[in-house]
Amino acid sequence: MSGLGVGVLGGERVTTGKKFYRLEVAERLGVLADELDFGVQDLPGLGCPDPLPLEVADQLVENVVGVVPLPLGVARHFVVDGVPVAVPMATEEPSVVAAASHGAKLLSAAGGIRTTADSAHMIGQIFLCDVQGFEGAARRLSAVRTELLAAANVRHPNLRAAGGGARGFELRVLEARSDGWIIVFELLVDVRDAMGANVVNSMCEAIAPRVAELAGGRVGMRILTNLCDRRCVRAEGTVPASLLGGEAGVKGIEEASLFAELDAYRACTHNKGIMNGVDAVLAACGQDWRAAEAGAHAFAARDGRYGPLATWSREPDGGLRGRIELPLAVGVVGKRARVNPAVDASLQLLGEPSADRLARVAAAAGLAQNLAALRALTQEGILRGHLKLHHRVSTLSDRG
Ligand code: MEV
Repeated sequence: MSGLGVGVLGGERVTTGKKFYRLEVAERLGVLADELDFGVQDLPGLGCPDPLPLEVADQLVENVVGVVPLPLGVARHFVVDGVPVAVPMATEEPSVVAAASHGAKLLSAAGGIRTTADSAHMIGQIFLCDVQGFEGAARRLSAVRTELLAAANVRHPNLRAAGGGARGFELRVLEARSDGWIIVFELLVDVRDAMGANVVNSMCEAIAPRVAELAGGRVGMRILTNLCDRRCVRAEGTVPASLLGGEAGVKGIEEASLFAELDAYRACTHNKGIMNGVDAVLAACGQDWRAAEAGAHAFAARDGRYGPLATWSREPDGGLRGRIELPLAVGVVGKRARVNPAVDASLQLLGEPSADRLARVAAAAGLAQNLAALRALTQEGILRGHLKLHHRVSTLSDRG
């Protein structure tokens, strides 16, 4: 993916010679169309001043009286698992898209960002109260494991056909009270390409009465957990020292990472910067970014101490290596989000990704975003760094 503008405008291939960020919106669309081999007319959600008509918004949520549009940008220079990708990002914050592109460019010099991801396992919780002892409840529930999983799966033939479904369950004691134990029954479900909230909640609701009966207790509530730590995604990449101003640049970022590891106040801001990238991709793609936020921050505190989601260290060859890990539940099945044409276009820009690929790209965006922030913070400072990256908007505000 070149940094220069090569577009198809009016059916003709045009080389503008300008950097992507210096092009007009229509020219950028031409460049993307050329690179990704689609016609601009195929993506009506892009370049459109009114992508979400009121009558469509009215189908999405209740009591609609308007829409709040967000700018949709495309981050450049991303290579994720060897594949170049144009990353759609919806955000109100200036410099986020430019910073992600900058981080991705630094990471692309050594081959780009590599990722791994767990299977799409979500956890549904059935909260049980007044249970008369743990051992007996565990024994009775284990004895009918197959029956319970079948009952959870029965209303989800499509998920079963796609190779997913309820896989197992675990019991955890939350409190052993004299008047009855508080226990949580956790159902593990492979939700494949779904985010999973609806399917997991409906499975838990379906089996909760039987689970409570077998446990000898009472159902308090049933709902999935957003701490989906069986569905983590990891991304990593390296940057040659020469691109970071040499040894001192690498050391600065390594120290910035250490600062976040040592101090929860700093880790919070470090992770906020990461989620600038992750959330912007999720928002562009119609995902539940609040679920991602809740899961990410709970995961960051999983050891009882809040820490950074991404860390950076010096390599033996003097370069910098960064790694990120976070739980991420995203879904690409279901037509609901896609009634928003901008969301539809974002998913097309990403090449109609599976949920797994979308999560990997979002994690890669988080890593690149963190790198760009730490580089700016440890070198020129965030204000100058942001201004430099965001020169187009600063030019606009200069105009008054
Ligand atoms: C601002 O939105 C994000 C940063 O504060 C992140 C960070 O400090 O790492 C720049």
